[in-house]
Amino acid sequence: MKSAPIVLLCLGLPVVALAAPPAPQVNPRVKEIVTNKCSLCHGMDGESASAVFPRLAAQHPEYMVKQLADFRDGRRKGTMNEMAAGLTDEEIAGLAAYFGAKKPLARRPGDPDFAAVGKYIFHKGNPYSGVAACASCHGKAAYGTVQLPRLAGQHPAYLETQLTEFNKRERTNDNAIMHAIASKMTELEIKAVAAYIGSLE
Ligand code: HEC
Ligand code: HEC
Repeated sequence: MKSAPIVLLCLGLPVVALAAPPAPQVNPRVKEIVTNKCSLCHGMDGESASAVFPRLAAQHPEYMVKQLADFRDGRRKGTMNEMAAGLTDEEIAGLAAYFGAKKPLARRPGDPDFAAVGKYIFHKGNPYSGVAACASCHGKAAYGTVQLPRLAGQHPAYLETQLTEFNKRERTNDNAIMHAIASKMTELEIKAVAAYIGSLE
């Protein structure tokens, strides 16, 4: 047993782990893709400059892997088809892990009265028209799960576009659940819930 550390040192395995605190290791290829492509719209840290580009910081890697593969393979259509074309499964996994590990920035709350309408819909839905409570799937804090996207702090403009696209089935991949919900929502409800979600941290 006494010789075990020496053997391990000879293999060179624990030296790195002992030398530095565990800093996230970013694959140079992933960093290169982020710098040359993704950062133009989503920022280096997943905080998109424009509200039409979704924030990726703290999004679940599993969800992003699925969306990127769907964009690459044409199941989900949009600007991203061109961006994801040619990415390998390994690069997709690396990119999703990279953005998922970024800390989301705090958001400025919008009009509090309007956001309060959205808060009601988010937590209780609209029992009169059959809109399901968002919290029942996306979670009380809108953090989502590995299968379900995080919504907290997402740009309201992006959320509105997605809800509209789910309604029209223009979001082409996995729209069954969200179509059933979005198709029952009024414009006011969509804008209010987006304002509320966008103000969450
Ligand atoms: C030209 C701007 C642009 C570039 C560059 C870009 N994206 Fe996107 N991205 C978008 C837009 C716009 C969307 C929203 C969906 C759509 O309309 O295509 C999006 C959506 C996404 C989504 C889905 C987010 C969600 O919540 O469903 C992921 C993941 C993503 N991009 C990752 C990336 C990665 C990784 C790269 C680099 C390889 C990248 N994007 C490069 C504009 C861009
Ligand atoms: C029964 C479960 C369920 C409920 C309730 C639900 N969602 Fe979803 N939502 C989903 C699933 C599943 C997805 C992911 C679809 C996919 O994989 O492409 C999703 C995706 C989304 C997206 C796309 C996010 C992104 O990053 O692109 C938005 C926006 C959204 N939901 C908003 C809402 C809002 C607002 C409500 C309440 C009015 C709501 N959802 C209620 C299951 C649900």
